[in-house]
Amino acid sequence: MYILLIGLVAIVLFIYYRFKYSKKIQVSITSKVSPVDSNFNWKSQQPLKIRPFIGKTNFNPSIGLKNITSTPEDWLLIENTYLKNIKVRKSSIENNQSKVLYIHEDIKAKLALAEFFQIVCQFLLSRYPKYFKLKNGIIHNLITNESFSINESNSIEILKILGSNIEEDFLIMFKEDEDSEYRVKSSFTGFPAGFDPSINYNKTISYIHKPVPQYNKLKFSMNKFFNNIKSQNLWVRFNWSIQTHSNLFTFNNHGRPGETMKKLNRKDIDFANGCFLRNERQCFIRLPKSNALVMTIRTYLTSMENIKNEEKIGNELIFAIDNLPDDLAYYKKRHEWGDALKEYLND
Ligand code: HEM
Repeated sequence: MYILLIGLVAIVLFIYYRFKYSKKIQVSITSKVSPVDSNFNWKSQQPLKIRPFIGKTNFNPSIGLKNITSTPEDWLLIENTYLKNIKVRKSSIENNQSKVLYIHEDIKAKLALAEFFQIVCQFLLSRYPKYFKLKNGIIHNLITNESFSINESNSIEILKILGSNIEEDFLIMFKEDEDSEYRVKSSFTGFPAGFDPSINYNKTISYIHKPVPQYNKLKFSMNKFFNNIKSQNLWVRFNWSIQTHSNLFTFNNHGRPGETMKKLNRKDIDFANGCFLRNERQCFIRLPKSNALVMTIRTYLTSMENIKNEEKIGNELIFAIDNLPDDLAYYKKRHEWGDALKEYLND
């Protein structure tokens, strides 16, 4: 009888510790990243063509998430825009630091940022060994010819290093307690798409999405998604907008309630160098130790001349512009550029 009882207790303890242990050693997405081919050359990497409006019939805001866990190497990309965009980011760090970098004054935020930094370093070393080399605790970036310490512990310095070595912006979020919503606790926003990043510091997902049309319809699914992301998962979603300037760093792309918009004529717009399709490639991961959630955002600008003459997808874009629901059309400022752009694409 005693032997049976001892056996039973041993089994229960085994299951308990196994469960606890397996929860603790959750792996991060960097654990299975393979290097790029030996003939990879960043200068010849064409930017991804993200055209989320093609083939769609419904243009209401949507979740549109795709699980890409089986290809973790697709997380952070090095393409032929690297040096040019890193230069823009460095200049924003110098001239606009309070809008670009954020770390909440809280040890949890600092630990999560430090964990994210280690994951990014591991990723760059594993994926791009030709361009990122580790020697005596220093990582040498052979594209920029600059170096940084893998042991950096100052949060502001970590943010500056990250912003100067990857093209992706990022937001690190966690909950203050189990029942609350995720809040932004640290971020690097080199390419804001039409909002002031500092307004979102330490704010919840719902607060941040207040200006987004139909957010209430997305809220439940979004929160469910955030609660369920596992640390070995990688998810992606895309968006698109139009802008009539060439800035990656902009606070003004989105229409706000009460705003008066000025309708532009075709002659007001330079379609080769001053009118762009703007896309974001947003990736979502969870950090295994801190349990924080991270969203990385890569921004692409494609000239309208390219859309029309090289890709020849003017008709698909016109269909998307025409079929935007009124609230989203206002948010995307269609009133300003819509008719002029359609006239150009139709020509
Ligand atoms: C499943 C995840 C998410 C969905 C479905 C989603 C959805 C949206 C949508 C529909 C918009 C309008 C622009 C667009 O077409 O993309 C938007 C804007 C925005 N989202 Fe998200 N979002 C998600 C995650 C996040 C997260 C985690 C953050 C950061 C905490 C974030 C920050 C923003 C910001 C700053 C804007 C611009 C708001 C403004 O105009 O001021 N999003 N989002």
